[in-house]
Amino acid sequence: MIKGGIMRVKPMIIGTRNAREMLHIGVEILRDGGSALDAVEATVRAVEDNPLDFTVGYGGLPNLLGETELDASIMDGRTLRAGAVAAVKHFKNPISIARKVMEESPHVLLVGEGAELFAESMGFKRCDLRTDHNRKFYEAFVKDKIPELGDEFARWRNYLMEYIRNYRLREWYERLSMEHHGTVNVIAIDSRGDICTGVSTSGLFLKLPGRVGDSPIIGAGNYADNRVGGAACTGRGELTIRLSTARSIIAYMKAGMSVAEACMQAIRDVNALEETGGVSCLAMDNRGNTYAASNRRTPIYYYMDVDSEAPEERKGSLV
Ligand code: GLY
Repeated sequence: MIKGGIMRVKPMIIGTRNAREMLHIGVEILRDGGSALDAVEATVRAVEDNPLDFTVGYGGLPNLLGETELDASIMDGRTLRAGAVAAVKHFKNPISIARKVMEESPHVLLVGEGAELFAESMGFKRCDLRTDHNRKFYEAFVKDKIPELGDEFARWRNYLMEYIRNYRLREWYERLSMEHHGTVNVIAIDSRGDICTGVSTSGLFLKLPGRVGDSPIIGAGNYADNRVGGAACTGRGELTIRLSTARSIIAYMKAGMSVAEACMQAIRDVNALEETGGVSCLAMDNRGNTYAASNRRTPIYYYMDVDSEAPEERKGSLV
């Protein structure tokens, strides 16, 4: 069992821009003496439930075949236990399924059909993740970008094969990777000094079916350890998987860097790959210091503690 930080800090929660309106849900739980785990799960769930967030949960933008596939993970810094799911197509709260994987199964990561079977056995209800918006957006985008496919549009398998053959998927994907993704990151510390990190996404818009990003990969998109802090990532997951970015931030802090230095070093590591793709990271240490860094634009994140009336906007560094 990993003990909480030596210094007790004011319970607090931070999240990416898309969690701004939902942080009050987590902070209420912390105010009532609830756990960081409950605060993070409830906050991420609220983002997943929001159909106007097109990059997370219900209404998330679809893959190349027009199907939304969700990835999520949660990590408990007290025990270093974690749960994750990937490529979930028929359930809108992958963060809660991930928590069940952590708490009710001997596993860390379940994918696709297996994750859905597990979700059903845990009592989660199947649902259709499509909304008018994501359907229209997908059709308009595909018709606009690939009009040459004509009648093939309806024949999905041919369409996919045609697309991969003719449109040099790798280059196309790298262009998409700059902008067409989004993820929610939420990190909290509770009154016992326990830290939890949650991450959820529909991944890259028009991704290849079956593509899994960093959000459900413990160490890449998510890591929490009470002895040090919590860290999470957004952006092009392929890069942070290669670098174990979230775990690296924790390791840099453990080696003595401040949370700000650790975040900036993690983004320097991404830049050193010299690959296309934006990455941002968000972190908190176990004394309650927070920071974010990005190679795309100055990152904005939001902070609330048990005395806050409204989310406070904080800025990180563009590296
Ligand atoms: N960072 C989210 C993804 O790559 O899917």
